Amino acid sequence: MNYEFRSVPRVVCEAGALSSVGTLLAGLGAQRVMLVCDPGIVALGFAAQARTALAAAGCAVTVYDQVVPDPSATVVKQAAEQARSFQADAVLGLGGGSSLDAAKLVALLIRSEQPLEDLYGTDKALGQRVPLVLVPTTAGTGSEVTWVSVITDEQQRKQAVYSPQLMPDIAVLDPELTLGLPPKVTAATGLDAMVHAIEAYTSRTRKNPIADGLATAALALLGANLRKVLADGRDVAARTAMLQGSLMAGMAFVNASVAAIHGLAYPLGARFHIPHGHANALVMAPVLRFNLHAAQRQYAELAAYLLPGEHFEHEAHAALAFVQAIEALVADSGLELRLSNLGVDEAALPLMATEVVVGIRRLIDSNPTDMTEHDVEAIYRGIY
Ligand SMILES: NC(=O)c1ccc[n+]([C@@H]2O[C@H](COP(=O)([O-])OP(=O)(O)OC[C@H]3O[C@@H](n4cnc5c(N)ncnc54)[C@H](O)[C@@H]3O)[C@@H](O)[C@H]2O)c1
Ligand SMILES: [Fe+2]
Repeated sequence: MNYEFRSVPRVVCEAGALSSVGTLLAGLGAQRVMLVCDPGIVALGFAAQARTALAAAGCAVTVYDQVVPDPSATVVKQAAEQARSFQADAVLGLGGGSSLDAAKLVALLIRSEQPLEDLYGTDKALGQRVPLVLVPTTAGTGSEVTWVSVITDEQQRKQAVYSPQLMPDIAVLDPELTLGLPPKVTAATGLDAMVHAIEAYTSRTRKNPIADGLATAALALLGANLRKVLADGRDVAARTAMLQGSLMAGMAFVNASVAAIHGLAYPLGARFHIPHGHANALVMAPVLRFNLHAAQRQYAELAAYLLPGEHFEHEAHAALAFVQAIEALVADSGLELRLSNLGVDEAALPLMATEVVVGIRRLIDSNPTDMTEHDVEAIYRGIY
């Protein structure tokens, strides 16, 4: 089997690690740091904590705090402009996947003449980024260890930039930052991470043994801890496990691909602004059901990690138990699960189905089995 695996050079995991970002960035040669985050991160006091840590390490700081969920091209351009006029020589991304994805592109654009639009796609970026440290506050997208940024263009389409330069120098996990994450965000981002692990493991295109190891370890951590953090958000051990699981799932999926769950989720986010994790949660169980026959062996293998200690006589039973366990987890997540209650227009369902099968073909190609427009529309109708 031929494959390639790439990942970040350094991960730091420690409660309270946000106070080390100054030392970490100064160690990378930073003197003028651009902090990229959103208004929520400022309100929580995390931006101020980061500023203090950077100042203590002798770094000058400018803050761009206007990132929006599913960050727009405009946000990235504004932030890059601010970074250039400040003459920033390093970037700190702090927040959920939206802030981290924006920060990654800013770090690349600071020294680049390329327009953002020219970066859409795979390996289009020329030049090098400035030093980059990423601190996730959700668990999560895994964006802190991936070389992809997803943004929303002027036509409300999701555009992905895949480029090795987007990988940071250091990913910092600080569980204290996630203790106050509201239950709905906890559920949505935790399920997103589980989808990353599952879709990486069952990828038809780039599945590989290193990603498999990370995906199964991630699924075990996420499966054992998602209900715990939903019951008690201040459980530091469980929050730490969620961050670690989300990071490992990120390492897995960026090297193996995600698949139809992400494919079906994308138009829901781009057209109706359903948060990324929530959109994944909506289609997760029906897509796993759809795949059950084709992915029976792999789902049975994953059952050992999601349902440790349970013994199954037959592969088919294990695979079914795996899908049922996910269905129960999604049902108990507290998230609204009907498209009609989320402002989705029924007339858009066939259009979204075409967009998935034609526009984001690569994600269907990585699914354990093929899907037609008819199949995709039927899944949307089933959850309408
Ligand atoms: N690059 C990748 O590898 C990758 C992978 C998956 C998803 N994504 C992208 O990530 C984005 C979604 O990121 P997300 O789900 O982490 O959410 P987000 O970054 O959009 O944040 C959602 C909300 O949660 C708030 N929030 C964040 N951390 C908090 C905390 N600790 N406490 C309280 N509130 C907090 C934010 O302020 C924001 O209002 C989407 O744009 C998606 O496309 C990227
Ligand atoms: Fe995702």
